[in-house]
Amino acid sequence: MTTACVPATEENILCAGQLLKDGQLVAFPTETVYGLGANAFDEKAVLEIFKAKGRPQDNPLIAHIWCKEQLDGICTVPERARILVEKLMPGPLTVLMPRKSTIPDCVTAGLPTVAVRMPSHPIAHALLKACNVPVVAPSANSSGRPSPTTAKHVLDDMDGKIPMILDGGECEVGVESTVVDVNGEHPIILRPGGVTKDMLEAVLGEEVLIAPSVMRPLQKGEKALSPGMMYRHYSPAGELTLVDGSREDVLAAFRKLYAEAEANGESVCLLCFEENMDALSGLNVRSMGHEKKPQEVAHRLFDLLREMDDEKVTRIYAQLLPAEGMGLAVMNRLGRAAAFRVIQAADVK
Ligand code: TXA
Ligand code: MG
Repeated sequence: MTTACVPATEENILCAGQLLKDGQLVAFPTETVYGLGANAFDEKAVLEIFKAKGRPQDNPLIAHIWCKEQLDGICTVPERARILVEKLMPGPLTVLMPRKSTIPDCVTAGLPTVAVRMPSHPIAHALLKACNVPVVAPSANSSGRPSPTTAKHVLDDMDGKIPMILDGGECEVGVESTVVDVNGEHPIILRPGGVTKDMLEAVLGEEVLIAPSVMRPLQKGEKALSPGMMYRHYSPAGELTLVDGSREDVLAAFRKLYAEAEANGESVCLLCFEENMDALSGLNVRSMGHEKKPQEVAHRLFDLLREMDDEKVTRIYAQLLPAEGMGLAVMNRLGRAAAFRVIQAADVK
């Protein structure tokens, strides 16, 4: 199959909508990352997604809609979920809702809930409106690779596997949507993203919990609240390690670790904040953005991790940022990409 990577003109969006209705897969931009879409009601098309991505079938998919009226066709909407729909959709938020039987089992991996999201990106909105069916769309990467934030990233993973990619430029947020479960006693964030804990608490008027597996690996025998948390994810091919500590300690540790890795014949790269670029000049180093702007770090993160692969970097060291607000989403992705390997800069002698 040849893959057409085309600009998201009105005509191409209509064509993509028709492909979706015909049971084909289409990749499209959203405000978070690019998605790989299929008609949620078409079981055969949904199964093709798992094949194209190499995704395990026990990892459920998010159904994307363009208007509230579509909810009724796929799920019931409990009170707390209704508030989230009213106040925070469209936007980078996914809410688990009790599913209806219209949704095939392969979408929810047999779970009693379906994940629902209404993207705010104008191209995603236009595409969903054009086909007017709920569209399941995981991130459009091969399973295990960093999520795609440009059409080129999608093409790198999906070339020859899908008929069309709509190119809408870079995704603004850069990390996937916040996944929240509001069906239990307390609302709980299963995956942090563009909608923060504070934003959820402000509209719900109650405490929102964060799933323990957000900031650490699943423990032996522990059941994942969200199946996606079980899998190795967002991983560059090189070994990524996070370096924690004061600015001075981290810079000193970076220089030491860099020299050691280089002496061992490794291709090494440092990921640091913009503020530290000058202090590390002369080394192979990339800016993650400004330390006080986690949005900037989120926006760049997956592109940087893919660049590490393109350049065949074998060892990567990165700085940490506070796991608050958007920083929580960044640290969740970085932590998982690093298999939660963190070293203390002060211990690097
Ligand atoms: O920003 C996003 O959410 C992007 C764009 C394309 O919309 N999509 C995305 O989909 O990130 P995906 O499939 O890569 O991630 C969906 C996550 C997985 O971790 C999955 O396990 C979880 O949502 N999930 C889906 N349905 C669930 C359910 N019923 N219960 C618990 N977790 C669920
Ligand atoms: Mg994904």
